[in-house]
Amino acid sequence: MMKFDIPAEANLIDKERVVGRPINRIDGPLKTTGRAPYAYERHDVAKGTAYGYILGASIAKGSIRTIDVGEARRAPGVLAIVTYENAGKLGKAKAHTARMLAGPGVQHYDQAVAIVVAETFEQARAAAHLIKVDYLREEGRFDLAGQRDKAVKPQEKGDTPDTAVGDFAAAFAAADVQLDETYTTPDQCHAMMEPHATIAAWEGDKLSLWTSNQMIAWAVRDMSETLLIPPERIHVSSPYIGGGFGSKLWVRADAVMAALGARATGRPVKVALTRPQAYNNTTHRPATIQRIRLGASRDGRISAIAHESWSGDLEGGDVEIAAKQTRQLYAGEARLTAHRLATLDLPEGNAMRAPGEAAGMLALEIAMDELAERLRMDPVQLRIVNDTQYDPEKGPSVPFSERRFVECLQLGADRFGWSRRNPTPGQVRDGRWLIGMGVAAAFRGNITMKSAARASVDKRGMVTIATDMTDIGTGSYTIIAQTAAELLGVPIERVSVQLGDSSFPVSAGSGGQWGGNSSTAGVYAACMSLRDAITQKVGFNSKDVVFENGELRSGTRVVSLAEAAGDKGITVDDGIEFGDLSERYAQATFGAHFVEAGVDRHTCEVRVRRMLGVFAAGRILNPKTARSQIIGAMSMGVGAALMEEAVVDKKRGYFVNHDMAEYLVPVHADIPHQEVVFLDEVDAKSSPMKAKGVGELGICGAGAAVANAVYNACGARIRDYPLTLNKILKSLPT
Ligand code: MOS
Repeated sequence: MMKFDIPAEANLIDKERVVGRPINRIDGPLKTTGRAPYAYERHDVAKGTAYGYILGASIAKGSIRTIDVGEARRAPGVLAIVTYENAGKLGKAKAHTARMLAGPGVQHYDQAVAIVVAETFEQARAAAHLIKVDYLREEGRFDLAGQRDKAVKPQEKGDTPDTAVGDFAAAFAAADVQLDETYTTPDQCHAMMEPHATIAAWEGDKLSLWTSNQMIAWAVRDMSETLLIPPERIHVSSPYIGGGFGSKLWVRADAVMAALGARATGRPVKVALTRPQAYNNTTHRPATIQRIRLGASRDGRISAIAHESWSGDLEGGDVEIAAKQTRQLYAGEARLTAHRLATLDLPEGNAMRAPGEAAGMLALEIAMDELAERLRMDPVQLRIVNDTQYDPEKGPSVPFSERRFVECLQLGADRFGWSRRNPTPGQVRDGRWLIGMGVAAAFRGNITMKSAARASVDKRGMVTIATDMTDIGTGSYTIIAQTAAELLGVPIERVSVQLGDSSFPVSAGSGGQWGGNSSTAGVYAACMSLRDAITQKVGFNSKDVVFENGELRSGTRVVSLAEAAGDKGITVDDGIEFGDLSERYAQATFGAHFVEAGVDRHTCEVRVRRMLGVFAAGRILNPKTARSQIIGAMSMGVGAALMEEAVVDKKRGYFVNHDMAEYLVPVHADIPHQEVVFLDEVDAKSSPMKAKGVGELGICGAGAAVANAVYNACGARIRDYPLTLNKILKSLPT
């Protein structure tokens, strides 16, 4: 294993012959012609597949008194019904996997109560509705605001502990200008295109799952712990994924219930969650209440900064780390952050694109806009004067690896025409539209994760990379192929990439925007080993060997890769682990969002008119796929600002608008011209790729820039997302 514990020196990736180019996605033709097989469509993997339909709990909290499957069992085509009464023993090692099957306790609405397996989907669905469940309903806790006072310190792990530097109370009290405001963000749902789906098949005591999952090794581990079988007997395959956004970081009920249904029938079983089940059976981004206090001197320098956040989850669940960015984004001597967790009996809260920062930046970046206004200062300038080149909680001994936040702001302001902004709200008109401009920072941490890959070259000189890394629509196939092509000196067409299979070396997987950088770094390690193996085999000098045009050269000697590989080919497994560079240096990705929005002065309808984002995120491995990530995330920011909200029925404890008709996300008509600029940057402390993540950066702050533009347009300062027409109307200055 390559150990990455000193900053990368000049290396082969710096040549950027293939890496760094806007190459089309190599899986693009498969996707656009419908030939990329998604989990539910893998018709060839198992013969005699039966269909499973999951029946969800119709109460939010309580227990199952009796469950009568008699009539359902006799319905046409039904092969088996599995409930907690006949599922056999299941492991309950982790809170979330322990909740995949209800009974007798019910922990949340739509939690799986049964799977009906039948010859057809329609038969399974019809029979599921013949199951009679008698529930004992208990009172539940469904309202975050109502539970706020009972919220507690979350269990100390990762980013959960409170942080404090200096005497916040004194510094805040002494500040020339103060802000103390509370912001709220609602529950949000991932709304990825492909629902959770799995085909499960047993062969003796071996289980195969064809599923849609971001983290293959976690899936194997969790299925092993749930079904109480060794991980070696579980095979997971997930080569194409129609979006995840965090919803598919862990196995969900489709996988567990399909496995149970297959075990009960002896047949392969396929299960897709229905769209409503995606909202209430799986996970969501939890709602937050965030109190922010900022104290500054007249010149705009922040002297006191505090961010406290409340969120809720089921018993044993996690808090949303919404104050995370406030630990690092702005300077300020006295500081504190804290998170409090309330117990709620709603469906599980969990990671959704940029967990922590996505919700936190919605609040912090309105607060900065408000502070700028109180200081009568330009909000771009306010952010610039509060830049810091080191982690402000840890001090100058922990500098940022790279931080070009100020450049993002300056370049963005320049390109956007920020100087034309009128700082007084409600002054600019275009017919019936009031026009405003808003700015917000973008910030997301840079996480690196151990990652391995298999690299081989065959007798035709074809290179193959195999790793359990996933491509959730992000472009993993392509950037991995670029990395291998760069290092082995072959055109990208000569590289075949195989992903998402548990028989391949374990990668970083797709999560937390670590996947692109970490998985290509693992591929880098494997390809460097393969180069060594090839060089050694042909007896070349490893010091001066050059891989180019499908050949390797040393001095005057030249051998083709095909020849070097020979009949048997050459294969190596290798990977990378990351040392303590992420502790010695603060590592994060940065940017600045600029938005122009129009607000109809009669109806308060909001139209985003222009968006520009400038980002600094290390080497951009592929500007085309990276831009796609950013514009998708910026669009999600528009959704967060203006429309997305999973509405809680506070009496019955579930998300009411559980479909795409009522949980609104932006469509093309909602998204105007978007411009994305990447600063030319490499970060040698992040990985040998000198890249960082971009998958989540674009959502962080985007929604706040929209909210700030709405304020500048019409003077409605709204601190409760989303900014719907009714709230704007109520907040318009009279
Ligand atoms: Mo991400 S929310 O870790 O897929």
